[in-house]
Amino acid sequence: MMSQTVKQHIVPAAERLKHVRYAIRDMAVLAEQLAREGKTILPLNIGDPLNFDFQTPAHMIAAVEKAMHDGHNGYGPSLGLPQAVDSIRAEAERKGIRNIQSVFLTAGVSEALDICLTALVNAGENVLTPCPDYPMYSAVLAKLGTRPNSYLLDEQNEWQPDLDDIARKIDLGTRGIVVGNPNNPTGAVYSRQTLERIAELARQHHLVIFADEIYDKLILDGDPHISLASLAPDVPVVTFNGLSKGYLVPGWRVGWGAVSGHAAAVKPYVEGIHQLLRARLCSNYPQQFAVRPALEGPQDHLLEVRHKLRARRDLTVNACNTIPHISCVAPRGAFYAYPKIDIPESDELFAKKLLMEKHVLIVHGTGFGQAPGTQHFRIVFLPDEATLTRAYEGMRAFFAEHYA
Ligand SMILES: Cc1ncc(COP(=O)(O)O)c(C=O)c1O
Repeated sequence: MMSQTVKQHIVPAAERLKHVRYAIRDMAVLAEQLAREGKTILPLNIGDPLNFDFQTPAHMIAAVEKAMHDGHNGYGPSLGLPQAVDSIRAEAERKGIRNIQSVFLTAGVSEALDICLTALVNAGENVLTPCPDYPMYSAVLAKLGTRPNSYLLDEQNEWQPDLDDIARKIDLGTRGIVVGNPNNPTGAVYSRQTLERIAELARQHHLVIFADEIYDKLILDGDPHISLASLAPDVPVVTFNGLSKGYLVPGWRVGWGAVSGHAAAVKPYVEGIHQLLRARLCSNYPQQFAVRPALEGPQDHLLEVRHKLRARRDLTVNACNTIPHISCVAPRGAFYAYPKIDIPESDELFAKKLLMEKHVLIVHGTGFGQAPGTQHFRIVFLPDEATLTRAYEGMRAFFAEHYA
């Protein structure tokens, strides 16, 4: 038997984790502690519609239940259920994407982006990510040992990407660019001209575009969504999408990628992606039976979702722009706003104090990145209007008490 006095060998976590940050969940840990103390938290932090008054379409649940009863509980094909793959391809074609060379299903966009970045970059190379960004891209890129390289989204121009900054940041090691449209955390929807110019830069510099379009069904006003790949059939583009947001099943973990571009040009890359897809066997299988019913079935729920989100967006923008020291560019898609704050202390301290004193849970801008010298926070405006109103009253009081 081992003696009680033997010193335990500490198991250190890998060095590379030092560069992985995920402020969204980190703030939630503090909130859980307050909730355990009996405080009611006003949660404006996590983009899960199912935490609020949104419901999964019943026909999708029925399709998964049937698949399970029919015995589809084993491993599925590595690239995904053929009927789901066909449906995704048809949807991509409806959105004008041509030259589609591969479609594959994954455990959410999260797994798709991990696999597609892993299949592309070597250590020392880089992929341009937006600043601010949805932090999972930079977390995966950090894990892969790539050098961070980010381009600015321009708050003065409704958060459209700063094209000059993109051009400045491209170097000999740049292999790709991430473009989230509609955007998390800004809620911006990009214009055709912006998308065309990004495609042109990618064309000139041989970059792969990662077009994250997970919020494409949640355009709150204006024209229909434009898929970046539809504007550039000759440029290698991986378009990401999934059921999590527009189809209200984030817990099912159903996402996908569609690679488009010249067949011969993207062939080795597509083979690399397929190799990784095979290595992880398959993604959640019975849930894939909901893809065709989702994409080809009734879309009525979207009308209600957008209707609610529009009212909650308007309430949010109104509140933010009438609280001194806050200003907010109106979001046009998704369910995020990224207001700017003009205060003497850090946005992280602001977020923590707001949570401790008013129990309003938001995520500070340093969790997403921001232009030097500016401070922001992200609001998820999924909660109902009564909850949002209480949260904004708390925020208004907080600013009056601290920064009058
Ligand atoms: C821009 C963006 N991409 C991807 C994801 C993750 O999506 P999934 O649930 O499909 O993994 C999110 C989730 O918030 C997101 O905001």
